[in-house]
Amino acid sequence: MTPSARATLANVSRDALEVGFDDGLRAQFHALWLRDNCPSRRNASNQKTHTSADMPGGASLAGAMVRDDGAQVEVEWTHAPARSTFGASWLHQHAYRPPRPQMPLPSAPRPLPRLTYGEVCTSDTALLSWLRHLADEGACILDGAPDTPEAVCTVAERIAPVQETIYGRSWQVVDSPHAINVAYTSVALPLHMDLAYYESPPGLQLLHCRRFDAAVQGGESVLLDGIEAAALFATAHPQHFDTLARIPATFMKEHFARDRPACMRYRRPHIALNASGEVTALFWSPPFDGPLHAPVADIPAYYEAYRTFDAFLARLVEARGWTFRLRPGEVMTFNNRRILHGRNAFTSNGGTRALEGCYSNIDEFASRLATLVRQLGIGADGGAPGPEMGLPKLGNQDCANGLPAASMA
Ligand code: OGA
Ligand code: ZN
Repeated sequence: MTPSARATLANVSRDALEVGFDDGLRAQFHALWLRDNCPSRRNASNQKTHTSADMPGGASLAGAMVRDDGAQVEVEWTHAPARSTFGASWLHQHAYRPPRPQMPLPSAPRPLPRLTYGEVCTSDTALLSWLRHLADEGACILDGAPDTPEAVCTVAERIAPVQETIYGRSWQVVDSPHAINVAYTSVALPLHMDLAYYESPPGLQLLHCRRFDAAVQGGESVLLDGIEAAALFATAHPQHFDTLARIPATFMKEHFARDRPACMRYRRPHIALNASGEVTALFWSPPFDGPLHAPVADIPAYYEAYRTFDAFLARLVEARGWTFRLRPGEVMTFNNRRILHGRNAFTSNGGTRALEGCYSNIDEFASRLATLVRQLGIGADGGAPGPEMGLPKLGNQDCANGLPAASMA
């Protein structure tokens, strides 16, 4: 594969290098930053052989030139070592770009994508399509899964080892008299994320519909993009948005009378923002809210904001959510950090509704997607990967520069 960005010009002042690229991008790189990131100062496993604290205060540039037909930029230093060479694609990828204005929403939500379980298990191209759907739409249905225990783990392991939790490697969502979770009953589940009381809630959730008898009434699944909802809420109700981004909520799991006793509590605001004010996370899990730990003066504002957001979600789900009845053999897969899920109440009428679920780690999902793009050399539009690709909207990080292109070492 050929490098996908080329440098067309390189100018230096004492403190900074300016590079122009063939796609029109012009970017500045500070001398100190360049010195710290010199490729020769990384070992074979691409780890730094010095630390940023070792950097001499005064890195000064003496010159720069474009080499190898735009593939490389060489800079000259006023002191030893005399030169550093950077790949143009690498510079292009790591160039600072100011935050982009929020993309306008498409007028209609996209349909829930579908793929075949068997294909995803056997073909890397189908696996890549699945990962892309999870990155783009945030959810995807796989159909044709065999009705066998842990079939849900088999497909999850195409991405990474299953992420075990206090519910085990996989768990059975079946209406049962001694339920250790309200999900294991027939009541409605409001829109929520799973395991919000973990410091790092699981990334992907997979729910395999093993049985859903025709006699069962209700039990439809509901999905809604929570990060998008929070971003829309910022415009619709700025004050309530600020409250939910400021006051730490309590998420709690305290249940001792179970095989694996659990005692977890985590405090954080429902909405997390990055330095540019963009929503990077939504933590929303009404059944696991614990007692609010806040000054008395904050209590009314919190409850009002909570109620307003809850009603906002209910309205939004009508316009932009996905509501559907799972069929046996379907695996509903989604980003648990971004897409809220819920379920309507159901009546069994003598029938059975049985799902088996498991989780996968969010970072390993992102890494599998990025490395598969490189291995297969397939970019987002089906062609070669570009120098910059949109990073999957994971809902847990702020990284504007995208995934590394396939061409870069
Ligand atoms: C769960 C859950 C959804 C369903 O188990 O966490 O949300 O459709 N289940 O039963
Ligand atoms: Zn759930």
